[in-house]
Amino acid sequence: MDALRERIAAELVAARERSNLLTALDDRDLTSQVSPLMSPLVWDLAHVGNYEELWLLRAAAGVEPLRPEIDGLYDAFEHPRATRPTLPLLPPDEARAYIGTVRNMVLDSLKDLREDRLFLYEMVIQHEHQHDETMLATHQLRKEPSGLTEPSADGLVPVVPYRPETFIPGGPFTMGTDDPQTYDNERPAHVVDVPPFFIDTVPVSNADYMAFIEDGGYDQERWWDPRGWAWRKDKDAKAPAFWFREGVWLRRRFGDVEAVPPDQPVQHVSWYEADAYARWAGKRLPTEAEWEKAARWDETEQRSRVYPWGDTYAPDKANLGQQRLQPAKTGSFPDGASPSGVRQLLGDVWEWTSTDFHGYPGFQVKPYKEYSLVFFGPDYKVLRGGSWATDPVAARGTFRNWDYPIRRQIFAGFRCARSA
Ligand code: AVJ
Ligand code: FE
Repeated sequence: MDALRERIAAELVAARERSNLLTALDDRDLTSQVSPLMSPLVWDLAHVGNYEELWLLRAAAGVEPLRPEIDGLYDAFEHPRATRPTLPLLPPDEARAYIGTVRNMVLDSLKDLREDRLFLYEMVIQHEHQHDETMLATHQLRKEPSGLTEPSADGLVPVVPYRPETFIPGGPFTMGTDDPQTYDNERPAHVVDVPPFFIDTVPVSNADYMAFIEDGGYDQERWWDPRGWAWRKDKDAKAPAFWFREGVWLRRRFGDVEAVPPDQPVQHVSWYEADAYARWAGKRLPTEAEWEKAARWDETEQRSRVYPWGDTYAPDKANLGQQRLQPAKTGSFPDGASPSGVRQLLGDVWEWTSTDFHGYPGFQVKPYKEYSLVFFGPDYKVLRGGSWATDPVAARGTFRNWDYPIRRQIFAGFRCARSA
């Protein structure tokens, strides 16, 4: 129990250090809105603390509300992102003081930690990291340099040759998990029979994607879903977000302009762009079940792993946790491959799948319906695997993310599949 308390405390502290790093800006930058798609950063910061108060002080520890009058301001359903800058939000100093008070009380309350409430702690830790990733997307949308440092050089990871596609034999596999420390939408474990298919061994690279652009992919309606074509015309999209052409392709990344590196997974593409590319390439996006089978299923042992490489997290097997501020080269991390030999499934870029976000058979809300249930339906597409900006506590073979098919500011790319 002591070791558990220490781990929870350390993870709470690490998440807060990350949030602090991403909000080490002056008040103007924290309170202004970069894009109607995003909250002012100071909203994310106070929301993280308010969520922690709701779940770890009020719900888990039975503490009286600290500031019930601000709950509404930080309720994501009451106020959509576009309207958040007009709210009487806590100014940065007050927001920091509030979330600091909450955190100190939570750390104190850990002495009474009950194991049957452990998931609430795991949930709050993951929630803060998920908002940190959202804050990184806000930084990416800013025109100014972020001031964030990039400790690990991209080139340090050895790239080992690979076959372009990997064959996954047909048959049943175990999808999802019964682990009580995972989100409701990852549960329960259930058997899915998946017909044989091929999947790209690595994510689609910038060079691959440039070939689609060069071939006039953005001008040919036949590659696009009808809604995707409407989106592409409306936005006058010609390339991934943040790309522009001056002889060669350049990209803006955290305020700096650089040549687009051909050998990195493409990121900042919408589901519609991914879907069009796949059709142009004579393939399709993988279904969510195909992605998970390629990532987790061990045919020899007849069981699904937690991570592609095994059941425990290993920092050298994937580009997760904001170690870099970009994807690693395609073909990196051969030791992080899944049992079937598919690489870079976790980290680097979120991967769009062809599947709409739905609950698995036997889905049960835990602990509140606004985490997953209210998003189920045809409006959202599932993304898998996590990006370079995803913390390892929120990345595993069963983790499900979702977003609108038009979204591009998230760190999303894709790989293709085809039926065998
Ligand atoms: C799972 C990333 C889609 O950011 O909307 C944050 C996570 N839920 N606060 C989101 C979440 C509530 C969620 N995603
Ligand atoms: Fe949230």
